[in-house]
Amino acid sequence: PHYHIVVLPGDGIGPEVTREAVRVLEAAAEAFGFRLTTETHPVGGAAIDATGDPLPEPVLQACLQADAVLLGAVGGPKWDNLDRAQRPEAGLLRLRKALEAYANLRPVQVPEALADASPLKREVVAGTDLLIVRELTGGIYFGEPRGRNGQMAWNTMRYTREEVARIARVAFEWAKRRRGRVASVDKANVLEVSQLWREVVSQVHREEFPELELEHFYVDNAAMQLVRDPRRFDVVVTGNLFGDILSDLAATLPGSLGMLPSASIGGRVGLFEPVHGSAPDIAGQGKANPLAAILSAAMLLETLGQEAAARAVRQGVDAALAEGVKTADLCRAGETPASTEAVGQFIAAY
Ligand code: NAI
Ligand code: MG
Repeated sequence: PHYHIVVLPGDGIGPEVTREAVRVLEAAAEAFGFRLTTETHPVGGAAIDATGDPLPEPVLQACLQADAVLLGAVGGPKWDNLDRAQRPEAGLLRLRKALEAYANLRPVQVPEALADASPLKREVVAGTDLLIVRELTGGIYFGEPRGRNGQMAWNTMRYTREEVARIARVAFEWAKRRRGRVASVDKANVLEVSQLWREVVSQVHREEFPELELEHFYVDNAAMQLVRDPRRFDVVVTGNLFGDILSDLAATLPGSLGMLPSASIGGRVGLFEPVHGSAPDIAGQGKANPLAAILSAAMLLETLGQEAAARAVRQGVDAALAEGVKTADLCRAGETPASTEAVGQFIAAY
């Protein structure tokens, strides 16, 4: 096979971390015998400087023609005083919308070698490996009617059967590649929408994935379990609002933003990007942790069906951590930090 990837490095540390992710992708293609070509375009502040638009039309068209899009991060102080619609972030929002991705995937891992960096106790978090699947294009963030008058304001939480079924399928498909367990999160003791959610997730499970395990959680209990016993979770599937909150909660478990990858899939083309921003405070110094970008590239490989290559990349990440090849954000006092490039080179060579 031959995959064509559009790379959007963006601003700040975006170019530094995507360079290492591309290095790793190219090494994986070589080792696993598939072809990979990349095409790089400016987005965000870099695109504003070049063209006045954070997402120029030719860049969007290139993304829509690609097999996948790998993005770094956008934004920075240089563009902070622009109007909201003209800022770097506006380009990213437009891109996500154009790609029609309804499933946001946020894996959270706490490898043994990093468990001491977590704000929680090592005994609780070491070995955590979960995946949050958040519905991204429906629910209360988009439901109509919405509005306000002098005395009150209102939003509408709504999901159709089809919206729930398709996000449930995404969750079950990923569970199949992982440990085979899905936790569905709702508030079915209170909300009509959640009762439909629970009914449809159970139906998809029964009819299409009976070999997997399904458990239902109320969202308040899920939040508590995520910090009390995160290792009990494999795949967690939930709606837009609950997913927003739970994914940020889970993101605190590893103790560094530099470890968290993400994918937005389900539309025409998948978008893969680290959770962190452009980190202007450390940009241009070779200090940025490239693991979030590299792990995003591993999700890209998995989504394209190159699962063995994805596994090899993850093993490379584990090996780098185990051997202490890690950037400053992951180092304890007395440990010598490696540069962004050294981490990428180690994993590409693994
Ligand atoms: P940030 O994620 O860029 O940085 C927060 C803190 O984490 C900083 O101290 C930074 O040095 C550190 N950090 C982040 N990524 C790291 C990495 N890979 N390795 C080591 N340390 C890392 O968030 P912040 O500071 O709130 O925003 C900075 C800029 O990024 C803003 O312009 C913001 O709008 C933009 N941003 C962009 C996002 C995107 O492109 N998806 C997401 C979040 C923020
Ligand atoms: Mg959020």
